[in-house]
Amino acid sequence: MIEGANRLYTVEEYYFSKKMREVNLLIASGKPIINLGIGSPDLRPPQKVISALTESLNDAKAHKYQSYQGLPDLRETMADFYKDHFQVSLSPKTEILPLIGSKEGIMHISMAFLNVGDAVLVPNPGYPTYIAVTKLLGAIPIYYNLIEDHNWLPDIMALERSDLSKVKLMWINYPHMPTGAHADYKFLGELVEFAKRNKILLVNDNPYSFILNDAPKSLLKVNGAKEVCLELNSLSKSFNMAGWRVGMVLGKSEYISNILKVKSNMDSGMFYGIQKGAIEALKCTQLWYLSLNSVYEQRRSLVWKLATELNCTYDKKSSGMFVWARLPEFIKSEEFTELLLKNHHIFIAPGHIFGSNGEGYVRFSLCAPTEDIEEAIARIR
Ligand SMILES: Cc1ncc(COP(=O)(O)O)c(C=O)c1O
Repeated sequence: MIEGANRLYTVEEYYFSKKMREVNLLIASGKPIINLGIGSPDLRPPQKVISALTESLNDAKAHKYQSYQGLPDLRETMADFYKDHFQVSLSPKTEILPLIGSKEGIMHISMAFLNVGDAVLVPNPGYPTYIAVTKLLGAIPIYYNLIEDHNWLPDIMALERSDLSKVKLMWINYPHMPTGAHADYKFLGELVEFAKRNKILLVNDNPYSFILNDAPKSLLKVNGAKEVCLELNSLSKSFNMAGWRVGMVLGKSEYISNILKVKSNMDSGMFYGIQKGAIEALKCTQLWYLSLNSVYEQRRSLVWKLATELNCTYDKKSSGMFVWARLPEFIKSEEFTELLLKNHHIFIAPGHIFGSNGEGYVRFSLCAPTEDIEEAIARIR
């Protein structure tokens, strides 16, 4: 028996990877499970995206290795996308790197900037991958608190008073997953100043900016942000292309070339047809976002009803493809989600899996048809 590497002892299998095995067993045994647990878009990408992929398959270079930096046309379209939606100017040659999803980018950025023993500020609650990747690389995650009373924003003064001597990187993610909270430009500006004062690379993971959000924002729009900031973005949620694996990292050329050094040694360029489809997606007009969001709006108002039936409370001003809801007092989030699964066959995510500050909350996904959500409400009633 060959032992696994020591780094494996620093992480556990992802909650959803384990839990879905159990949920799938329940489905196989005939239980009518309603899945409101996972944020995997069930809607189709724009038709022109699918056509661009299929039509590209007979191009002469369709099946060759592709450039590590992606097609120039893809990078140019990404630059136009950032200019149009966020009024941020980026050089398509040096300041944009297409990625195989933004999750990949979390590992690549960490590998490009962290040494063993460096500390990383990670949100609690937050996307569990930031912590897992930090630990896998022998760096030290330091949770920073996000709480409802502070609108799920970091307390910069409290951070400033803490020992930051080893901190090299800080993850933020606005609109925030799982809470759906926003950070305005004033607050993002304060964070950039904090990062500059403390020589910290501030990275905004920004995959939810176009879902149920009236005012998409980019950290890179903040004055002087490029000095200390990077941003990740993704086509997974904005264009229902989660399985395609297309993301991007954006920022100053020196930072991007560090990341390219890692990426070009780990994977190869993205499949040509996927890049062709991604180009079409990024060129979508406002009409696409309006139609996508009208579906999510309908679903969200039903999920609000479901949450109310379950005696939960929620913030109607939040963004993203989840409803984050506070539970009645005295019940733990896992106890609540297990009861819901066992008694009503409804699967939702317990808040504690996103960090200790998620205890007392649950997360409902909007990636299920209205009929499923209506059925869930009927089961509770
Ligand atoms: C906060 C956050 N960041 C990144 C990702 C990964 O997205 P991608 O599909 O681009 O890898 C997710 C996916 O659920 C997410 O919730």
